[in-house]
Amino acid sequence: KPSVKDMYKFKESFIDKEVEVEGWIKTKRSSKKLGFIELNDGTFFKNLQVIYEENINDFDQIEKLPIYTAIKVIGRVVETPNAKQPFEIRAQEISVLAPSDNDYPIQKKKHSLEYLRTLQHLRPRTNTFNAVFRVRSLMAYAIHKFFQEKGFVYVTTPIITASDAEGAGEMFRVTTLDLNNLPMTENGEIDLKEDFFGKETNLTVSGQLEAEAFALAFKNVYTFGPTFRAENSNTARHAAEFWMIEPEIAFADLLDDMKLAEEMFKYIIKYVLENAKEEMAFFDSFISNGLIDRLTNIINSDFGVVTYTEAIDLLKKANVKFQFPVEWGMDLQTEHERYLTEQEFKKPIFVIDYPKEIKAFYMRVNEDNKTVAAMDLLVPGVGEIIGGSQREERLDVLLEKMRANDMNLDEYWWYIELRKYGGVKHAGFGLGFERAVMYITGMSNIRDVIPFPRTVNSCDF
Ligand code: 4AD
Ligand code: MG
Repeated sequence: KPSVKDMYKFKESFIDKEVEVEGWIKTKRSSKKLGFIELNDGTFFKNLQVIYEENINDFDQIEKLPIYTAIKVIGRVVETPNAKQPFEIRAQEISVLAPSDNDYPIQKKKHSLEYLRTLQHLRPRTNTFNAVFRVRSLMAYAIHKFFQEKGFVYVTTPIITASDAEGAGEMFRVTTLDLNNLPMTENGEIDLKEDFFGKETNLTVSGQLEAEAFALAFKNVYTFGPTFRAENSNTARHAAEFWMIEPEIAFADLLDDMKLAEEMFKYIIKYVLENAKEEMAFFDSFISNGLIDRLTNIINSDFGVVTYTEAIDLLKKANVKFQFPVEWGMDLQTEHERYLTEQEFKKPIFVIDYPKEIKAFYMRVNEDNKTVAAMDLLVPGVGEIIGGSQREERLDVLLEKMRANDMNLDEYWWYIELRKYGGVKHAGFGLGFERAVMYITGMSNIRDVIPFPRTVNSCDF
């Protein structure tokens, strides 16, 4: 049995042949004598048109089959050079493999993305989500391909951790203790010795610290896995569970890091444009006009680079009234990021050398002793898509920063030890996978690029 994808791909070898195809009815229409079914077998974004005539086994029954009935069609492939689709099947026999009820909740009329979020089990059957999740899958493949071809070692870092990689305290607690019957110590504190690991543990916010250990063994490594943040941000770009790609490179500085990020990002875009033509054409027409041209431009031009201090000056000079007043030392807000990428530069830009106070403890302190060797990649429409830095490899400076951040040095003993034994300069970054999917598909809400999203107050499936 050929797949619909094979039929499109190797069209010539199917013309005038008899085939047997299994799939679901996406739409249908009929007149007295002729019926049309748009069949989708899941293997390809496009449907297969099936035509049946009066003389079919059971014309009246077939005409009444509800949407998403699973059927088997036996028929002949016929070329249709003047029609929308290159070929169709003239059915000789149609049989039902699995029925579908008449009240299928996604009918032909266009439903809002909000409504479809209430149907996460069915929405992958719609054109939009079918395209999104096929592109998401291709992007994951492209990312592995990119790094593997460069000789990077894929390292899986733990999902349950005992340290806070970002030091931001936005973690989900992991425990086996009974919340209704907590064991207490004599001092009236929860007795963590009774917990599964005998200590406090959390879901990881980033695999970076462990990736650093591996980079100092393999030189070039990357992670690709789920990360979790209990951020109370109810926005279109924040999820509580999202995936991150975190390369870490040794004998490398911030500039090497930025080059790698730019090369990787362009590679992913190029791979998707070449391997998901039907899906990308769909996004271009129905989700974000001009998307393909914009992405093509990105591949063919250099990303911008601006220091944080320059960015602050540009924002101060901007003829825009920002909600958050602009001053050196503040964290860039979405409105500032959008101004920089959409108005000022009109392309992806790296903002580098942020004030050390607003960035994580592990970032390398610059000569000025005020800023760190950090880089964020900002893109039009989405904002921050990558966050990275050169790491502080000098033991004394690292210790000083950790103390200044009130960190418990004992918990990070192994991370500190990496600086004692051949801790060369190294750098890395984290690409937010969902934000990259949003950027490439043009989808504007992170809830619509995750199969089963988890966000503040929402974990329904
Ligand atoms: O900038 P972040 O916090 O950087 C790190 O975690 C570093 N440890 C990465 C590294 O250097 N290895 O996060 C990296 C990226 C962000 O730029 C953003 O794209 C994404 O992860 N991200 C989120 N995506 C969706 N929902 C959230 N709540 C996100 N938080 C961060
Ligand atoms: Mg960041």
